[in-house]
Amino acid sequence: MNIILSPSLLSADFASLGHVASSLEKAGVAWLHLDVMDGAFVPNITFGAPVISCLRKQTGLFFDVHLMIEAPDRYLADFAAAGADMLVVHMETMRHAHKTLQAIHDLGLKAGLALNPGTDFSHCRWLLPYVDLMLLMGVNPGFSGQKFISQTYVKIGACRKYLDELGYEHLPIQVDGGASLANAAELVAAGADILVSGSAFFKNPDYVDAHNAFISSTSEALDNRKSCQGLERAQSWRHCPDGSY
Ligand code: DX5
Ligand code: ZN
Repeated sequence: MNIILSPSLLSADFASLGHVASSLEKAGVAWLHLDVMDGAFVPNITFGAPVISCLRKQTGLFFDVHLMIEAPDRYLADFAAAGADMLVVHMETMRHAHKTLQAIHDLGLKAGLALNPGTDFSHCRWLLPYVDLMLLMGVNPGFSGQKFISQTYVKIGACRKYLDELGYEHLPIQVDGGASLANAAELVAAGADILVSGSAFFKNPDYVDAHNAFISSTSEALDNRKSCQGLERAQSWRHCPDGSY
């Protein structure tokens, strides 16, 4: 078993996104992390559903769509129609998180819940039955290439313990922001199942090599973990055009 690496397209050349996506798939990558930013929740603007819809025609990668937008309910159906497989919504952007998560499921997609560095996972207690994945930010969202906030290691471990104690051993933890070959093993030892990487991944133009480097640097830490139920579940997710998993 290997960790899942989800390269963030935010660090790719935006003039060649389609080519990058198909090259990643050929290189053996399974997930693609798509950072949608609205210039309101975060101080940056990227792309929306039309770009994702174009990328969908280029690749069968699992589209892990990270919505850093205020009031995401307004756009869920658009992202589903564009070909997203999972919509990850921020706790800090939702007035009715319970309703939003169910709306994502009603569209046939996986629902991820993202938490900023300052947001505690205990706020999600009553949402857990409606969540497929927890995303813990390792930086304040908005930009690639930021320094990892070191207290996130403790947060990942504490979140894993919290989920396990409540009977959610099967819920995968994704860590986004500041991941690199220098800290990937430590993130996985703490409990990360899926690593998002933007700048660290794309600085290597050889995607096979970049992917393998993350997988091999984390293999020992993964072997030493007691349980990998969350990772096993996430490994089973595939892009399904008809939305039936
Ligand atoms: C940050 C984004 C991340 C970002 C990660 O707001 O959500 O996905 O692209 O980039 P790195 O790996 O460079 O921190
Ligand atoms: Zn992201």
